[in-house]
Amino acid sequence: MNIFEAYNETKKALENAGIEDYVFEAKQIIKYITGFSNAEILMNYTNRLTGYQQNRLTAIIRQRELRYPLQYIFGEWSFYGRDFYVGPGVLAPRADTETLIEKSLEFLKGKTAPLILDLCAGSGCIGITLAALVSDSRVLMVEKFPEAAEYARKNISRNGAANAALIEGDIFEGAGAEECGYDLIVSNPPYIPEGELDAVSPETKYEPETALAGGGDGLDFYRAIAGNYGKSLKKGGMMLFEAGIGQAAGIKKILNSYGFSQIGAAEDLNGILRAVFAVRG
Ligand SMILES: C[S@@+](CC[C@H](N)C(=O)[O-])C[C@H]1O[C@@H](n2cnc3c(N)ncnc32)[C@H](O)[C@@H]1O
Repeated sequence: MNIFEAYNETKKALENAGIEDYVFEAKQIIKYITGFSNAEILMNYTNRLTGYQQNRLTAIIRQRELRYPLQYIFGEWSFYGRDFYVGPGVLAPRADTETLIEKSLEFLKGKTAPLILDLCAGSGCIGITLAALVSDSRVLMVEKFPEAAEYARKNISRNGAANAALIEGDIFEGAGAEECGYDLIVSNPPYIPEGELDAVSPETKYEPETALAGGGDGLDFYRAIAGNYGKSLKKGGMMLFEAGIGQAAGIKKILNSYGFSQIGAAEDLNGILRAVFAVRG
């Protein structure tokens, strides 16, 4: 089988498995098994796959038919142009979360040596990206679960983010709140409401429930963070959350009840209110 045939076969198998992004995924898989760039694939599409590559392709297609996440198969995923290790035990970075990076950069523009706190850090994709892009910043990340924290530590090294550090701790106990004067507190917390966990995508079922379940109405973490961390922000500092679909209004209400001002929300690329923010008055 040559590369072109393998690509078509992969596309067909993924489409039959009900995978929405089957064209994108088929391209990624062919790149992964051949080690070729997009341009190299175009130049070499009649090359035959080796026996090893063909076996690898068959195994990956099987895994995807079972809806095992592509991010876990690759063991890494790109977020805002940087690569992060991922695997079982940690949530894979999502493109939606890049909305938080955009909003953070807009807020941090012109600030000198900002202090940033990333709560519920997981792979560390938010904190590490900000540490890399705002080179004079200092970033502290907080993650409760050791398995996820291990990925964040590896990702700090991988991205050479010497200005980022991670502590293992619980946001319900205010871990990381001791240090005051943060310019920005950012968090993509677990936010799926209790009764809706069964409705998540088949791939998400392989990801840790502790990264997803946000309590009865999905808003437990927002209440805890707004309550425990408001005083750790500088006056004029920003609290910035990722929101699930339809949650922005509820989060704004929480921020209002804790006395924040200039409360607002920003849309992601799909027009969903994804980033909710507020300033400490
Ligand atoms: C939705 S994931 C977000 C991960 C990462 N920030 C991202 O955007 O991809 C939420 C993360 O919160 C962590 N977490 C869950 N409960 C926590 C708690 N009580 N304190 C700190 N972290 C917690 C989970 O382990 C998970 O890594």
